[in-house]
Amino acid sequence: DSALPLDMIIFGGMGDLAMRKLLPALYMAYLHGNLPPSTRILSTGRQHIDRKAYLAHVEAHSRGFIARENFVEKTWDGFLQLLEYVELDVQGAPDFSALAAASRPGAERVFYLSTAPSLFTTICDKLAASGLVDANARVVLEKPLGTDLASAIEINEAVGKHFAESQIYRIDHYLGKETVQNLMVLRFGNSILEPIWRAPNISSVQITVAEEVGVGSRAGFYDGTGAMRDMVQNHLLQLLCIVAMEPPTSLSPDAVRDEKLKVLRSLRRFKLADIARDTVRGQYGHGVSGNQEVAGYLEEKNVPPDTSTETFVALRAHIDTWRWSKVPFYLRTGKRMARRSSKIVVEFANPPFPLFPGAPGGVANRLVIELQPEEAIKLQIMAKEPGTGMQMQQVALNLDLQSAFQQRRAEAYERLLIDVVRGRLTHFMRRDELEAAWEWADPIIDGWATLGEKPHAYAAGSWGPPESFALLARDGFSWVE
Ligand code: BG6
Repeated sequence: DSALPLDMIIFGGMGDLAMRKLLPALYMAYLHGNLPPSTRILSTGRQHIDRKAYLAHVEAHSRGFIARENFVEKTWDGFLQLLEYVELDVQGAPDFSALAAASRPGAERVFYLSTAPSLFTTICDKLAASGLVDANARVVLEKPLGTDLASAIEINEAVGKHFAESQIYRIDHYLGKETVQNLMVLRFGNSILEPIWRAPNISSVQITVAEEVGVGSRAGFYDGTGAMRDMVQNHLLQLLCIVAMEPPTSLSPDAVRDEKLKVLRSLRRFKLADIARDTVRGQYGHGVSGNQEVAGYLEEKNVPPDTSTETFVALRAHIDTWRWSKVPFYLRTGKRMARRSSKIVVEFANPPFPLFPGAPGGVANRLVIELQPEEAIKLQIMAKEPGTGMQMQQVALNLDLQSAFQQRRAEAYERLLIDVVRGRLTHFMRRDELEAAWEWADPIIDGWATLGEKPHAYAAGSWGPPESFALLARDGFSWVE
């Protein structure tokens, strides 16, 4: 840990993310002694309010996001002491002298940019012009990092003018999830999986991130974005990278990110015919979710009545490498699905010779990595059904990570913020990774526009449109719920 005082500066300090995720995560880090004692948190916002009013806003909008069992009144009061409010109109202010005056001279500064990405350029330019960027400074960039390759390059150029790549932390909060980090350990901390972790031993991989929630109050952002940009281009591709990457030579940021980059660059590009055949867009309609009738996407507040934005995507991707040749990677994500469930399913080839009768379900062996809501690793194997016959049945070797490790889990944001404070870049995206992900996603999004098809309807509370089942059935597979 550095001996310099730490100033954590949050742009968008009044915003939703700050209230729901960032401040609760910083509180947790503080509670567990993971923030340097010298830390101060400077929240900036356009609102003309004083510190007292800001703290009242935090009380009202952030405190409730801390789990009851973690809430300690005295610690919370101590945490609030770290907070300052700096009134700052990012676009209107000629410079950031107000911020420069509030930040301690010589402090190590972390700038957390939790604003619309259209403000990133202005923020970085003005930070530099106000003398706030030095060799110790770090900048954290929230997604969405652009809406396509061109806009991502623009942001990267603008930020790169003032910050070296080693000072830039591009957050993908899925990389902060316990089970996602555990997947690296599962693959590379054990020797039993690696020899079979390839074609033709693996016949397919499924990655599902299903959400039960709908668009909520975020339609203004979401309708211009859609599930492909909001989830697939970042979270699902990052999961795919960790499943598919070659073993890195170390855990250094570049060793890990080099391997992820190779995966992204080996993703087969979609042509129009592939898009028509191998992708499914969906949009939820009215239905029942969590025992309640819920509105369809088109009836949600602030959603244009005729929009074709997708709230669901399923697709079949290929990674053109020796290891993954001909292995389909099925990705699926959606809002308002039957329940919240994120999992990675690795399906192994069946035994080459069917010695025993009756292989139910078709696939003998699966490794299922459940990310949320529960963390578990299950290996599905065939076992003999007790009795006089030789009938087989699928059973699971079940590792419930919750009971295996009873320690507290840090939330993704807490873990990643601590990484930023400690200068650990491994679980953040490098510029070339981000751009490679857009290079793959752009032609699909453009292709959908060219094809001009409406997304398929699915009922809220279901597992998505029937076409997404057909996508796998065609290859002899099916989604594992
Ligand atoms: C965010 C998306 O990046 O991830 C949201 O913008 C989505 O639309 C969220 O709901 C899902 O994150 P989690 O951690 O709840 O799975």
